[in-house]
Amino acid sequence: MLKHLIMKNRSYRRFYEEERILMKDLKSLIDLARLSPSGANLQSLKYVLSNDEKTNELIFNELKWAGYLKDWKGPKKGERPAAYIVILSDQSISKTCYWDHGIASQSILLGATERGYAGCQFGAFNADGIREALDIPEHLKPLVVIALGKPKEVVLLEDLDDEKGIKYYRDEEEVHHVPKRSLDDIIFKKYE
Ligand SMILES: Cc1cc2nc3c(=O)[nH]c(=O)nc-3n(C[C@H](O)[C@H](O)[C@H](O)COP(=O)(O)O)c2cc1C
Repeated sequence: MLKHLIMKNRSYRRFYEEERILMKDLKSLIDLARLSPSGANLQSLKYVLSNDEKTNELIFNELKWAGYLKDWKGPKKGERPAAYIVILSDQSISKTCYWDHGIASQSILLGATERGYAGCQFGAFNADGIREALDIPEHLKPLVVIALGKPKEVVLLEDLDDEKGIKYYRDEEEVHHVPKRSLDDIIFKKYE
């Protein structure tokens, strides 16, 4: 079950934009993050939620889409995310949040996948632009943006082949391929 959900939880970058995500559904995803582990139990993450068209556009303009797809500038109108979650670190609670934002992102994305949505997390975005667009005060530092929507593309995992390397790519049918290293490749040592 968990493996199935993890396999299904790919990074999607094209959506049925008109398929709205309700605020109560976004809040239920934040609740999954809230219940997730937190270093020193600091719980210093804060969240901005948007399913509002105008705000979505402001957020969209600050994101850097799919660095390996050099000729693609991101999804066109109609295929853009229906909602966003911005994860902030509340520096008035702690200067560090350890890796809480990674755990929170995964909880949110697994929850979205379970509900029939899909998403993509962004580490590459213009933080000053996000701050300005969402009127975020100085003590809240934007760490991750998560785009969400009903998926409108096919994403396939494949075994990493040494010649092709780690870069994801799109084939002529617009199917998105994601190479993954093998288990044997990543287990450095086994003590039995
Ligand atoms: C920490 C982190 C930062 C990421 N930042 C971006 C980003 O800025 N832009 C983007 O298009 N995808 C981003 N991604 C998505 C990755 O490109 C994606 O996870 C990777 O290609 C593997 O695909 P998969 O998620 O389907 O396994 C990020 C993923 C992670 C975990």
